[in-house]
Amino acid sequence: MNVVVTGGAGFIGSNLTDDLLASGHQVRIIDNFSTGQRPFLSEASSHPNCDLFELDLFTQSECLLDVIHGTDIVVHLAANADVRFGWDHPGRDLEQNVVATHNVLEAMRTTGVRRILFSSTGSVYGEASVIPTPEDAPFPVQTSLYGASKLAAEGLLQAYAEGAGFEVTIFRFVSVMGARYTHGHVVDFVRKLRRDPSKLEILGDGSQRKSYMDVSDCIAAVTAQLDRDHRCEVFNLGVDDYCSIAESAGWICARLGVDPELVYSGGDRGWVGDNPFIFLDTAKARAAGWETHFSIREAVERTVDYLVEHPWVVDLQDAP
Ligand SMILES: NC(=O)c1ccc[n+]([C@@H]2O[C@H](COP(=O)([O-])OP(=O)(O)OC[C@H]3O[C@@H](n4cnc5c(N)ncnc54)[C@H](O)[C@@H]3O)[C@@H](O)[C@H]2O)c1
Repeated sequence: MNVVVTGGAGFIGSNLTDDLLASGHQVRIIDNFSTGQRPFLSEASSHPNCDLFELDLFTQSECLLDVIHGTDIVVHLAANADVRFGWDHPGRDLEQNVVATHNVLEAMRTTGVRRILFSSTGSVYGEASVIPTPEDAPFPVQTSLYGASKLAAEGLLQAYAEGAGFEVTIFRFVSVMGARYTHGHVVDFVRKLRRDPSKLEILGDGSQRKSYMDVSDCIAAVTAQLDRDHRCEVFNLGVDDYCSIAESAGWICARLGVDPELVYSGGDRGWVGDNPFIFLDTAKARAAGWETHFSIREAVERTVDYLVEHPWVVDLQDAP
């Protein structure tokens, strides 16, 4: 297939791109390198089946027509993927996650490309009242600008499915980690421990419960949907388990061989909008044939190993 990957220079997008190329697909990457990393494309960029378009989906929507024209499917991963710093720039999620998504959809509609896979997030469930949370859970109050923007983008996708005949697959991921992970708590902890292995500051009281997933398991779910026909389907993706942040900190320290004093900032969440318990019901994706191969602990440890081998990634700065 001829696949457009928006955000193809990012963490998940570059891993997906390598997987698609290895399977013989043609890939067109769109990325503005706001958080994407050129070294992640070291192999893909010289591959004969890969074309890179350095474009901004928000400000350069007029350029999208040429890139999307003639392709079979768009995997739309480009976004502001940061949850924590949303209130430092309250317009960013609207621009990068909602308006940019609309720009992609309009370019697709104009060029007659009708199939799209979209990376949403478990954050759309806010502070869920049903745990594990199924796709049809009642939607609670949104707790982050990021979650709200992804939910708004989902609404656009559903409208394009209903009104413009699009075939839409929406994935609501838990936190994904693994090779090329550039943000999130594992990177944060490894960075802090590199600076001072005797002390680790943990946001919240460490009791926050989270579900994580290895990027290879995430990509297997995405690629399995490339050629499936449906008007609009939503799939939760995650490991069938959860851990506390304190547990995860213990695994990270053990992997690094350090035994720091753990200093908790306090409270039952790490920041405004942090959800203290995320655990998704993934029965629907599993019934469609998908399974995870890595436990949460393995995903965390694989991420630590990658970061140790690639210290330049740890040196990248978090948003804003
Ligand atoms: N990593 C996770 O834990 C996680 C969890 C749930 C959902 N998601 C979603 O998965 C997708 C990929 O996340 P990621 O972790 O790989 O993030 P990432 O920041 O590594 O990748 C996002 C990519 O999009 C690009 N980009 C951003 N805005 C753009 C724009 N306006 N025009 C062109 N390119 C742009 C960035 O340069 C980057 O390469 C995002 O939509 C994110 O919201 C990620």
